[in-house]
Amino acid sequence: MTEKKKPLVVVTRKLPDVIETRMMELFDARLNSDDEPLTHAQLIDVVQTADVLVPTVTDRIDREVIEKAGPQLRLIASFGTGVDHIDLKAARERGISVTNTPGVLTEDTADMTMALLLAVGRRVAEGERLVRSGQWKGWGPTTMLGHRIQGKRLGILGMGRIGQALARRARAFGMSIHYHNRRRVYPDVEQELEATYWESLDQMLARMDVVSINCPHTPATYHLLSERRLKLLRPHCFIVNTSRGEVIDETALTRMLSKGEIAGAGLDVFEHEPAVNPKLLRLDNVVLLPHMGSATIEGRIDMGEKVIINIKTFADGHAPPDRVLETLL
Ligand code: 8YV
Repeated sequence: MTEKKKPLVVVTRKLPDVIETRMMELFDARLNSDDEPLTHAQLIDVVQTADVLVPTVTDRIDREVIEKAGPQLRLIASFGTGVDHIDLKAARERGISVTNTPGVLTEDTADMTMALLLAVGRRVAEGERLVRSGQWKGWGPTTMLGHRIQGKRLGILGMGRIGQALARRARAFGMSIHYHNRRRVYPDVEQELEATYWESLDQMLARMDVVSINCPHTPATYHLLSERRLKLLRPHCFIVNTSRGEVIDETALTRMLSKGEIAGAGLDVFEHEPAVNPKLLRLDNVVLLPHMGSATIEGRIDMGEKVIINIKTFADGHAPPDRVLETLL
């Protein structure tokens, strides 16, 4: 009996060793051991021959890449949950399936969101910089004062998996939970989280102490926190974003942070990654991280496992478990 030909799987970035080893066993895997991101031209080149492409958030899989793909490309099995780097419509038109890795990075991302929330509220990064600078003069009753987290109102924009995981953590810290979402969540979830639903985002923003962005970036959420909406926030409010930079108008946010119209921000993501607005870098009331919300070794292995399962089921002629449907976004 002839053995079935293994699919040619092109992986654009270096993945954990265990995942790469397994991929090499199962597929005709082309890996990227030096982890240098592919240029747009290189992406166009690899889709000429790949049966499956495994991109990450750093690859722009736009209409041009998809339209120039050879007819053998049938699956884009993305390593990550967000799919805003992939033109889903173009993929659908070409009959290419797209999968992602939802669920396995929920808890890690919620942890990092909480870490940023605490870091901004309690000036953790600023304090750390002070000690390292050698300028610390010792304890003082009115120095390095932050704001109490307990009892504050947290407004979660996007009550999906990560939003709910954040709400659970924030409740344990004594915060009251508020949220805005396209759809109201089920009553039992609302009850468990003691969460208040705001149909009007504008009204919620005007009443919060902290706002966290936990919705995906889609055409509908691009600059959802526009300058007009940022102006609705009270001056003591601060913002945390572990979702996508594009959801906030970063220029307006930076301007308002420098003028003290917004108290602070904890940002893990930026509008033009890896570029960061240079004015943000000069501000003390911000904590800036390099898109590391889900960066745990356990999470990366789980994500890789999901990618493998998606490819394997697809190659075996079944519906992959994490198919992304454009209409559900
Ligand atoms: C991932 C993310 O690390 O999954 C996502 O959407 O933003 C990140 O946490 C990244 O996308 C990997 O491609």
